[in-house]
Amino acid sequence: MNKAPRTTMNIHRPDVQAMKFEYEDITLALVQDEDSIELFHLIEKNREYLRQWLPWLDMTKKEEDTKKFIKKSKDQYAQKKGLQFLIRKNGVLIGIIGLPKIDLENKKASIGYWIDQEQQGKGIITKSSEIVIDYCINELRLNTIEIACAIVNRRSKAIPERLGFKKVKTVKNAENLYGTMVDHDIYILKKEPVPNKK
Ligand SMILES: CC(C)(COP(=O)(O)OP(=O)(O)OC[C@H]1O[C@@H](n2cnc3c(N)ncnc32)[C@H](O)[C@@H]1OP(=O)(O)O)[C@@H](O)C(=O)NCCC(=O)NCCS
Repeated sequence: MNKAPRTTMNIHRPDVQAMKFEYEDITLALVQDEDSIELFHLIEKNREYLRQWLPWLDMTKKEEDTKKFIKKSKDQYAQKKGLQFLIRKNGVLIGIIGLPKIDLENKKASIGYWIDQEQQGKGIITKSSEIVIDYCINELRLNTIEIACAIVNRRSKAIPERLGFKKVKTVKNAENLYGTMVDHDIYILKKEPVPNKK
C-alpha cells in the first residue's frame, strides 16, 4: 500500500459530498443517504464485536438510527465541522473512518474508526488513517490531530503509535461504555503543513 492515493476532495468546495480517496482496492468516500441499509447491515454483522469498544451500539438498533447518523454527518459536512468516510474494499463496505470534530479555527481535529472484524489486521485502518491525516494537515491546514483510545484497546492504540503520535495523557472515566466507565489514552500528532507552492 505505498502508492499515493488518488483524491478528489476539498472541504471548502460546494461539492464536498463528492470527496473521495482511492488506493489500490480501497475507497474512502463520504457517507451518503443511499448507504444507510448497507451500513446498518455491517453494524448488525459486527454488533457484539463493536460493542466491546464503542458506546453507540444500543442506540443503533434499526436502519432509521443509521439514517439519523447519516443526516447528522451531512449536517456536519455542510458546517465544515466533521467528515465521515465509508471504507470500501472492491466496492464492498467494510468500515468507517471519521473526523467527528474538525475545528478549523483552532486547526485541530480528532479521528475515530472501526472495521469489519473479518477485515482486521490487514493494515486498512493504518493506511486509511494516514490518508485522512495527510488530508487534515495538507488540505485543511490543521496542525493537531487527536486519537482517543480505551487504555485496554491494544489494536486501536497500535494505530496512533505506529503513525508517530505521542501519548499525552490518560483521562480517567472518559466514556460510559454500557454502564462501565472507561479510561482513555489520548494521542496527539502535531505537524506543520507542507508550504503551498508559489
Ligand atoms: C482498532 C481497529 C480499528 C484496527 O483496525 P485494523 O484495520 O485491524 O488495523 P490495522 O490492520 O491497520 O492494524 C495493524 C495490524 O495489522 C497488521 N498489518 C498487516 N498488514 C499491515 C500493513 N500493510 N500495514 C500496517 N499494519 C499491517 C499489523 O501487524 C497489526 O496487527 P496487530 O494489531 O495484530 O498487531 C479494529 O480492530 C476495530 O475496528 N476494532 C473495533 C472498534 C474499535 O476499537 N475502534 C476504535 C475505537 S478507539
